[in-house]
Amino acid sequence: MAASKLTFNFLLLNFLASLRIPEISLCDRSRQPKRHVAMFIFGDSIFDAGNNNYINLSVSDRANYWPYGETFFHFPTGRFTDGRLIVDLIATKIGQPFVPPYLQPGINFTNGVNFASGGAGVFYETDPKVISLGMQLSNFKNVAISMEEQLGDKEANKRLSHAVYATCVGGNDYSHFVDNYPNATQLEQDEFVKNLVGNLTDFVKELYTFGARKFAILNVGPRGCLPAIRQSKELRGDECDEVSLDMIKKHNSAASKAIKELESKLSGFKYSILDFYTILYDMIKDPKAYDAIFLA
Ligand SMILES: *[C@@H]1O[C@H](CO)[C@@H](O)[C@H](O)[C@H]1NC(C)=O
Ligand SMILES: *[C@@H]1O[C@H](CO)[C@@H](O)[C@H](O)[C@H]1NC(C)=O
Ligand SMILES: *[C@@H]1O[C@H](CO)[C@@H](O)[C@H](O)[C@H]1NC(C)=O
Ligand SMILES: *[C@@H]1O[C@H](CO)[C@@H](O)[C@H](O)[C@H]1NC(C)=O
Repeated sequence: MAASKLTFNFLLLNFLASLRIPEISLCDRSRQPKRHVAMFIFGDSIFDAGNNNYINLSVSDRANYWPYGETFFHFPTGRFTDGRLIVDLIATKIGQPFVPPYLQPGINFTNGVNFASGGAGVFYETDPKVISLGMQLSNFKNVAISMEEQLGDKEANKRLSHAVYATCVGGNDYSHFVDNYPNATQLEQDEFVKNLVGNLTDFVKELYTFGARKFAILNVGPRGCLPAIRQSKELRGDECDEVSLDMIKKHNSAASKAIKELESKLSGFKYSILDFYTILYDMIKDPKAYDAIFLA
């Protein structure tokens, strides 16, 4: 699949272009962005830039030790990666600094805030130890209120409505469901997907009432193919857990539909969905096609 080689960079550009975020060419780093773009970031370990460092958690819920951070920051920042997060790459592309984690003491809100927490779900029960999406939303409301206090309503509203709201959440909810209800019927699975998408849609609507207009959404990745899940299900070769893949496919399609409906109902609402599921699934199933990226 030769076309795969270009996908990630190409989709990231498309993702930014469809939200009309001015992108800084990598060959032209000196150019200043025309307009400042703050990012408010929500979700799980895919987006957590270090919030879990500030919570009392066991080692498996944290990423503050070597070799995390090895290839880019050269120290463990609390990101669940050796390099940068997708939101860091987006910040770099649009010529903005990395967005600081909400719990880091003394942060400045000017460039936005990252509320994401590794292990988090849409549902609180998915992992009560970390910062669920509902708690992330409460934290965002506190930031919005303090922006109003510091900058005045007019300036705060302007910044909130120009900002980009990036979200990646849901994967942990599906892993939790599949682990806890191994014998769920098709009907129970479908009900779970429906409730999750409903709650996620409510979250987006709530952000909208606080002035959010531009949403950048990463859909749920193919969790059923992650090594930890393949190991716990004792799968062989390149087998993936088909129950979670099936639920996640239904989720991604229902969530896309729900967001599209919001666009038609809410004035000024703009969104872009990055198909993380397909990109990552393709990388897992056809890693050779990506050698050119990883060896570059
Ligand atoms: C952190 O969590 C552990 C295990 O739940 C507990 O024993 C310990 O007292 C907690 N520490 C603090 C400072 O809350
Ligand atoms: C936050 O950072 C911006 C830009 O660096 C600066 O202009 C502003 O004064 C800072 N705000 C606070 C409260 O430190
Ligand atoms: C699921 O079904 C299997 C086989 O029927 C049974 O052994 C197991 O106890 C069930 N698990 C749960 C959590 O109900
Ligand atoms: C959110 O999830 C809860 C629990 O599963 C469910 O009862 C509720 O109906 C959901 N809300 C929406 C709007 O779907």
